[in-house]
Formats: sequence, C-alpha cells, structure tokens
Amino acid sequence: MEIKKVGVLGAGIMGAGIAQVSVQAGYSVVLIDVVPEIANKARKTLNKAWAKALEKGKVSAENVADYNARLICGTDINEFRDVDIVIEAIVENIDFKKKVHKQLGELCKAETILATNTSALSITEIAAATNRSDKVLGMHFFNPVPVMKLVEVIPGVVTTDDTAQTVIQLAEKMGKEPVLAKESPGFIVNRILVPYMNEAANVFYEGIASAEEIDKAMKLGAGMPMGPLALADMVGIDIVLAVCEFFYKEFADSKYRPSLAFRQKVRAGHLGKKTGKGFYNYM
Ligand code: CAA
Ligand code: NAD
Repeated sequence: MEIKKVGVLGAGIMGAGIAQVSVQAGYSVVLIDVVPEIANKARKTLNKAWAKALEKGKVSAENVADYNARLICGTDINEFRDVDIVIEAIVENIDFKKKVHKQLGELCKAETILATNTSALSITEIAAATNRSDKVLGMHFFNPVPVMKLVEVIPGVVTTDDTAQTVIQLAEKMGKEPVLAKESPGFIVNRILVPYMNEAANVFYEGIASAEEIDKAMKLGAGMPMGPLALADMVGIDIVLAVCEFFYKEFADSKYRPSLAFRQKVRAGHLGKKTGKGFYNYM
C-alpha cells in the first residue's frame, strides 16, 4: 500500500514533531488536537523551525510555502476520513488510546493503518479495541523527533507483515532508521532508558547529589549527550512516571518501582520543560 496522506492525532511535543518530518518527507498532513490553542501552537512551532532552516540556507522560501500548503492543523477528527495512516500521539493512557483508536477505526477508510506512538503500552490491547487489528501497530518516534534517527516498529499479535513493511518504508522515507521490535512493555529503548532515568531520580531523592551534579556526572562520566534528569524534564515527568508504573504493574518486579521523586513532581504539576518546572526551572 502506498501512503500519500498522513494524519497525526495529538499536537503536543511528539505530534508536532511527527507532523514536521512527515511534511518535510513530501506527504500531505492533517494534524489534529482536541485543544485549538495546541493545534495553532504546533503550526507556529513548525514555522519557527522552518524559518530557522531558511535562515541557515537548508530550505528555500518556496519549500516553506509548500510545507504550509500541505499541512492542515485543526480540531476536527473527521479530517482523517481520507488519510492513509493515522499516527496517534495523545496522552500515555491505555483507556484514552483504546477509545480514540476505536473511533478512528469507525471513521477512517477500511485500508487506513492506525499507528500508535505509545512509549510502552500494549499494541495488541489497543488493536483489539478497533475494527482492524491487523492494521494496527506501534510506530515509536524519539524526542526531539526532527533530530533523533530511530523509529521502533512494533507489530501487535495480529498485525500483518504488509502493515509492518508499509510503516518501515514510511519511516525510511521520513529519513529515519527503523528497527523492528516484538511487543513487550517499553519495546527496546524505553525498557532500558526509563529504568535508568528512574534510578537517577532515586539518587536525587536520596540526596546523594543535586540534579546538576547527577546530570554532569552522567554526561562527563558515561558520555551521555544530556543528563538523565534533564532528559526526564524534556520527555515529560508524567510520561516517564506512566511508563514506570506500567513496567511495575506488568512485570510485577520491585526493580521497576517508580521513584518517589517522580511522584512528588507530578503531584506538584512540575512535569518538566512543558510546564516550566521539573528537576530544573525553565521560567
Ligand atoms: N527540536 C528540534 N530540534 C532540536 C531540538 C528540539 N527540541 N533540540 C535540538 N535540536 C536541534 C538543533 O536545532 C540542532 O540542529 P542544527 O544542527 O540543524 O542546528 C541540533 O538539534 C543539535 O542541537 P544542539 O547543538 O543545541 O544540542 P545538542 O547537540 O546538545 O543536542 C539533543 C541536543 C539532540 C537533544 C541531544 O542532547 C540528545 O541527543 N539528547 C538525548 C535525547 C534522547 O535521549 N532522546 C530520547 C528520549 S526517550 C524518547 O523519546 C522515547 C519515549 O517514549 C519517552
Ligand atoms: P503531550 O502531552 O505533549 O501531547 C499530547 C497531546 O494530545 C496534547 O496536546 C493533548 O491535548 C492531546 N490529546 C489528548 N487527548 C486527545 C484526543 N482524544 N484527541 C486529540 N488530541 C488529544 O505528550 P507527548 O509528549 O507529545 O506524548 C504523546 C505520546 O507520545 C504519548 O503516548 C507518549 O508516551 C509518547 N511519546 C512521548 C515521548 C516524549 O519524549 N515526550 C517520546 C516518544 C513517545
């Protein structure tokens, strides 16, 4: 199946980035969020990125005009009626994801692929909520989407090879390097990366070192591009906590117990960069 038109549901950190790389790869893109301000903000963010690229001579003014002409940003999910794939990037909550995928199955064309950008949840469970479980899979991008090269492709138990191959080709056309992973909590990267951030939060909670010292130590001592607490702030502490909670429940293993530092920050509404405060202050 050839993908020509891409739908992206959720215009937050990830949805905006996924829409950006999709437009840049030549697709017509519909980006939908329930909150009108967020949909408008996403267009502004993309135009800022393209203005920067124009300044650097990486794109022309014609390219930017063409990108805008191929991008619809709005709040009406019915705009997805004629898309070939929907990439869902809404909150990391299984009930919300099942509900929207059921709705997407009812309104999209019979052949439309439904992909979820979930960080950890069960693809099979989301697929089972739809009328097309063979065409549902995980297409997991990394933050920041325009920079990170990886896309994990995760078939559910009944996803066809055709569906997976179409999505692998789509990821390649977006300039990404796809890897195929079997369904399992957190797939490959988050199974390894999230417990690492969780342990850094434990070190912080136990008062062993400040956030700055922990991050400096992991950058200079372990060669990480950024420290684990700055990374949790960039990802969103609500998302990191949701993934920890899911691992703890699914594996029933105390090694995945979420750090109390994450719980406290989320209870305070200090979710990281997106709320202006997390382990660091961004205001
Ligand atoms: N959005 C778009 N572009 C960005 C960006 C952002 N948020 N942050 C940086 N960039 C771009 C810059 O514009 C710059 O591009 P140019 O070369 O074209 O100018 C380039 O990236 C390098 O930026 P900087 O020199 O400012 O910064 P850096 O070299 O320190 O790199 C980084 C920044 C790419 C974020 C790097 O620190 C890094 O790789 N960090 C680790 C990121 C990571 O681990 N991501 C995965 C998170 S987990 C996840 O996503 C999965 C999940 O389900 C939770
Ligand atoms: P976010 O909070 O920035 O954005 C989520 C957006 O979804 C919000 O704008 C919200 O208004 C919108 N939304 C919620 N319910 C909706 C609905 N029913 N219809 C349309 N829009 C709806 O979150 P994010 O960081 O972009 O994460 C989105 C998804 O991507 C999550 O599943 C997350 O686990 C995953 N993910 C996040 C990262 C990351 O680093 N933040 C990386 C990879 C994957």
